[in-house]
Amino acid sequence: MKVVTTREELRVARAGLSGGVGLVPTMGFLHDGHLSLVRRAKQENDAAAVSIFVNPTQFGPTEDLAAYPRDLDHDLALLADAGVDLVWTPRVEDVYPAGFDTYVTPGGVADVLEGARRPGHFRGVATIISILFHLVAPQRAYFGQKDAQQVAVIRQLVRDLGLPVGIVAGPIIREPDGLAMSSRNTYLSAEDRPAALVLSRALHAAELAWDGGERDAEALRATMRQILAAEPRATVDYVSVAHPDTLAELATVDPAVGALASLAVRVGTPRLIDNLVLAPRG
Ligand code: PAJ
Repeated sequence: MKVVTTREELRVARAGLSGGVGLVPTMGFLHDGHLSLVRRAKQENDAAAVSIFVNPTQFGPTEDLAAYPRDLDHDLALLADAGVDLVWTPRVEDVYPAGFDTYVTPGGVADVLEGARRPGHFRGVATIISILFHLVAPQRAYFGQKDAQQVAVIRQLVRDLGLPVGIVAGPIIREPDGLAMSSRNTYLSAEDRPAALVLSRALHAAELAWDGGERDAEALRATMRQILAAEPRATVDYVSVAHPDTLAELATVDPAVGALASLAVRVGTPRLIDNLVLAPRG
């Protein structure tokens, strides 16, 4: 496994890989959610590349950039175990050289949900992903459905700019009790950890209602809100039932299209997100 830092080292190491490359962009502090994508990238491509970079441009001024958890040695051991060929661990100046002044600004799909609460977040994501796709030149890139809006923004980016990269979305990997894995789960106190299960419980209730024939989006949102309201440690940011591609809020869910049910909830310190696809029903 080659581990490189500068753009020049990356260029040389990339040139040494033959065949198609599968890229998994990450911010490190890796868990099984990340590793599920890494394993798939390894299986489906001639070589697997991973980037580890806590990207400052996607953090707002009041967000947790400085405190974001890091453990590079552990990450590299996990990636070596998984048979990864190339890891890029740039410093900020390797990604954003002095005088850097070009950004990629996504459109409407980035303005709702997470984008509405975190202004500039998806501009930072679209910019780093554009740089990564250009410098690593992967044939495919792997993203988790955990960040469903990120997947939608990147699919739109690739379509609009004609980037020659196949986007693969992997399922959400959960703890045995249902909590979606996230680096930010480390911020949960022992008392808040059980309360965090309310996110997956609310989504599950929406799915049951959907399976039972409920097509009124507001009724599906109300089902989720009711479950969240019963957990005193949870503060709801948003509850959404939206079109799976545009992420526009729906009034009625078209059974042929389905919907993305998603939510953001603060449990103690961390703000957690989770989602579930209400799959189309013939
Ligand atoms: P990060 O939060 O490190 O996540 C890296 C990738 O792992 C993302 O595609 C994310 O959706 C996926 N992932 C995280 N938790 C997951 C889980 N429980 N199950 C499945 N996949 C999961 O997302 C980012 O970094 C950044 O925004 C990045 C794309 C690297 C750009 O900076």
